[in-house]
Amino acid sequence: MVDTRTQPVSRTGVAAPRFSDRELFSLAEKYGTPYFLVDEATLRRKVSEIEQGFSHFKGAFRVAYSVKANFNPSVIKTFVSEGILFDLTAPSELAFVVKSGGSPENVMYTSITETEAEYEQVLKMGVRRIVVASYNGLVNLTEAAMKTNVSVKTMVRVNPEVHVHAELRGSMGHGKFGLQFNGGSQDSAFYVLKKILSTPGLEFEGFHFHLGSQIEDPSCYAEAIEKLEAFILGARRQLGDFPLKVLDIGGGLPVSYGKKVPSPKDLGAKVTEQLNSLVESLGEKFTLVAESGRFLTAESTVLVSRVVNIKNFGESRYIYVDAGYNVLLDSALLRHEYPVEVVPGGKPSPQKVVLVGRLCDPLDVFPTSSRSKLGGAETGKLVMFRDVGAYTIVMNMPFHSQPRPPVLMRSGQGAFTVARKAQDIDSLFADEGGDCLAAQ
Ligand SMILES: Cc1ncc(COP(=O)(O)O)c(C=O)c1O
Repeated sequence: MVDTRTQPVSRTGVAAPRFSDRELFSLAEKYGTPYFLVDEATLRRKVSEIEQGFSHFKGAFRVAYSVKANFNPSVIKTFVSEGILFDLTAPSELAFVVKSGGSPENVMYTSITETEAEYEQVLKMGVRRIVVASYNGLVNLTEAAMKTNVSVKTMVRVNPEVHVHAELRGSMGHGKFGLQFNGGSQDSAFYVLKKILSTPGLEFEGFHFHLGSQIEDPSCYAEAIEKLEAFILGARRQLGDFPLKVLDIGGGLPVSYGKKVPSPKDLGAKVTEQLNSLVESLGEKFTLVAESGRFLTAESTVLVSRVVNIKNFGESRYIYVDAGYNVLLDSALLRHEYPVEVVPGGKPSPQKVVLVGRLCDPLDVFPTSSRSKLGGAETGKLVMFRDVGAYTIVMNMPFHSQPRPPVLMRSGQGAFTVARKAQDIDSLFADEGGDCLAAQ
């Protein structure tokens, strides 16, 4: 097999991980297809790209990994060793972080349901920094802190209600997440802040917002910070000086799947100046936190499948691979376009190429990004989907009784290891109810 060792470059100018054809075929032989392959060095590089993007911020800066994007224990362990924070939203995610060697002290916990039982559970497990997003949530946290007899660093999740240009938006019109600054009820950032400041056992830590995922225009961050500054100054006039120790600007750093998107450097340049002027106007150096799931993980991982059939239909050439949207859900759910390459590549086809999966569902047709190279497809060759490390492996599902494929990892030293074993039919059958048959 030809060892082309091409090094694709993403539109943000950063080299995507390079795997030789020989490596990809030899892993296909050993583990079968499809398989995911994660590059540890890329995970680490992404942390430093974000850190560099905010290096001109006047206060301390911390990256937090949003575990929801990819909870593979080897991925979490890599980020634990980078010494970063973790953004979690469920006790089960906390269990994954702790079992992978992480400490609850490094967790920012942002619940969606905010029940007393959940807060009690995570406080008992050692979490001490919690983001509240409703009045009832605050009452429940107060109760849980009293029961467990611990002091909780408490942050307020605000929804700055700004327009966001992104694949997934979470601000304007999305009441599910965060509090309005000055809504008329107890469910307002002002009221919740006032309550925290007078509640023993809760220590006000700062504010949090999350605007969306795959944010293409960073001006929404600037707008949100501007609104937050006005809110803090107004609240200080009414409540007296309260400290701002932490400001968490959530996630949303985009990945260049095909079109040009701002890099952490572009985004950092845009918001750091404003954050620095916030430091000046508040007269204190708070710690800035940027949460990221997609940017930290997407480019690290490829999905490798095999061409199993080819068919001509009208003017088009249909390439069938042995993967489906059961392992790449957003390709069907969001019509998300991943960059795809045939391995080894060949001349571009004069026909229109349509890449289809193995599922018996018309939705199982992969939209392919403009970075794709689909020429030279033949049965037996491989098809590699790039940038699939975020929100894919965690959404693998057994549609059509498909077992989960293995996740392999290239370590920093270059060795290939197994990060998740392939599921076999027997264990899938048992998990799906086969093991209940014997008891009937
Ligand atoms: C509160 C919060 N922070 C961070 C993230 C991560 O976003 P992204 O993966 O776009 O960086 C999410 C994603 O849903 C989120 O809900």
